[in-house]
Amino acid sequence: MELFEKLTSKAHANRQRIVLPEGLEPRTLTAADRIIEEELADIILIGHESEIKELAAQLKLKNIDKAQIVDPSDENVIDKYAPLFFELRKKKGISMEEARLTTANPLYLGCLMVKAGDADGQVAGAMNTTGNVLRAAFQVIKTQPGINVVSGTFVMLLNEGSKFGTNGILIFADCAVVPNPTAPELAQIAISSAKTARDIAGIEPRVAILSFSTKGSAKSESVDKVIEATKIAHDMAPELILDGELQADAALVPAVASNKAPNSPLSGRANVLIFPSLEVGNIAYKLVQRLGGVQAVGPVLQGLAAPVNDLSRGCFPEDIYKTIIITCNQAIGLKENNR
Ligand code: ACO
Repeated sequence: MELFEKLTSKAHANRQRIVLPEGLEPRTLTAADRIIEEELADIILIGHESEIKELAAQLKLKNIDKAQIVDPSDENVIDKYAPLFFELRKKKGISMEEARLTTANPLYLGCLMVKAGDADGQVAGAMNTTGNVLRAAFQVIKTQPGINVVSGTFVMLLNEGSKFGTNGILIFADCAVVPNPTAPELAQIAISSAKTARDIAGIEPRVAILSFSTKGSAKSESVDKVIEATKIAHDMAPELILDGELQADAALVPAVASNKAPNSPLSGRANVLIFPSLEVGNIAYKLVQRLGGVQAVGPVLQGLAAPVNDLSRGCFPEDIYKTIIITCNQAIGLKENNR
């Protein structure tokens, strides 16, 4: 079964509640309509009801009546969620009045609904910047136990029959969030990416922390960081098949691995690639995507206590539809892991 068929059928079987703060954004509303029609999630739209309904009528959408609509200007809504935001941010010195104003911001209101247990995940970013979407999630939802850094993965879907990854699937991280991770942060990115490999890509992770050096072939501060990150990640998850520092060929090509890293538990068959910095990760995924004609699904944000995903402002309704399905699967994965 194709990756998205699997994700779709899992979402359908375990309906999650997904909040869409950009309820008045046409592509978002179109994607929401399809999700509701296919019964893949219960949709919560943030916006003024009459405006959402008018836009739905203009777009000839038939299912928006089945969405829950939450009005950010409704005083009852603010009364309900502002105390939670105040509690979360009072150490930062905010007043209740500031908390009420921030709660009326749909990006924050959606995250507060998730935090309060009234929704299972959020998808936004068709009209908001990455920074604004992420900041609301960082401040309200915060990270999973044992993790204090959020990062972004791309699921790279190689051509059928590819000899790389598992069934042609490779996970790349971090490609979206942390510009210069420290060694402990890099280790956490590796652990979170292994989880994403299981929950979203449905593959058993084999994690390589990459460098321009393989097992001491070169020396520099950045190589030392990767070596330290590998040690920390081993301590965090001793059961995980993980190795570093490895060059990309030693991670991906068994013949090169047997020469450069003969004792590597990966044996040149890594399916999760962890890059030493955002610069490398972001450039690598775009090169593989464009030069290799590879489908890149993401970024899938990982490490948050509940899933929030960011869209590109140039996205299409199909991208939003798929991101909602991924978010549902992350929420299901988190619930399964917490059981
Ligand atoms: N994980 C968890 N929490 C974080 C993270 C993180 N990665 N980064 C920041 N935070 C927290 C901080 O601890 C802080 O919390 P606090 O207010 O409770 O103390 C809060 O978030 C705000 O932190 P700032 O340092 O002010 O972070 P800022 O808001 O300046 O930046 C951001 C965060 C926007 C994510 C920044 O790291 C960034 O711009 N990253 C790159 C994003 C990007 O442009 N990616 C490439 C494009 S995406 C693509 O191509 C797919």
